[in-house]
Amino acid sequence: MSPIPYSFEPLADHDKTNFTCGVAELDEYFRRQAGQDAKRKVAAPFVMLDHERQVVGYYTLSSYGIRVTELPPAVAKKLPKYPLIPATLLGRLVVSQDHRGQKLGRLLLMDALYRSWKNTIVIASIGVVAEAYDESARSFYLHHEFVPLLEHPRKCFIAMGTIEKAFARM
Ligand SMILES: CC(C)(COP(=O)(O)OP(=O)(O)OC[C@H]1O[C@@H](n2cnc3c(N)ncnc32)[C@H](O)[C@@H]1OP(=O)(O)O)[C@@H](O)C(=O)NCCC(=O)NCCS
Repeated sequence: MSPIPYSFEPLADHDKTNFTCGVAELDEYFRRQAGQDAKRKVAAPFVMLDHERQVVGYYTLSSYGIRVTELPPAVAKKLPKYPLIPATLLGRLVVSQDHRGQKLGRLLLMDALYRSWKNTIVIASIGVVAEAYDESARSFYLHHEFVPLLEHPRKCFIAMGTIEKAFARM
């Protein structure tokens, strides 16, 4: 039986030392801060592992509150006028420098969106807000059906209904 090429797990005692994405801030976060964030329940970091259990990517999920006025009008018009609407924050999503361009970013994103959608059974969320590290990250999210979030140039949004439809097709 051939090994499963990649797997996803909540960050635990994985070896973080060899992981580098080429952006010092994102590497530093992973090595020094992600575990602390997990312990304090500030963010839930997940790692993608190859068949040798080396970390080849990571992402983080957190709860997020969003004002209706920040949302695209087509989404906002269907929502109640609560001060804050629940959403899911995809804070970081990073692929190792050696593994770029092999569709692992997409795989990581699919896992993050699937997990966010599955969790709506227990914690409601109207969509995923991705925090783009820079212009290139922003264009990655726009390429994957996210839309820019009004008032936040670095943030992009995808509605949970869109995610649900994508996974229901599979
Ligand atoms: C952005 C990032 C996650 C992309 O990962 P990747 O594994 O190289 O990308 P993939 O091979 O999975 O690409 C999947 C698709 O997205 C497209 N894509 C990849 N990077 C893109 C970018 N910066 N802008 C637009 N599209 C992009 C690819 O062309 C591909 O398109 P296709 O499926 O239509 O052919 C990776 O470059 C990265 O980790 N960057 C540094 C950290 C970062 O900026 N993270 C983002 C948020 S913090």
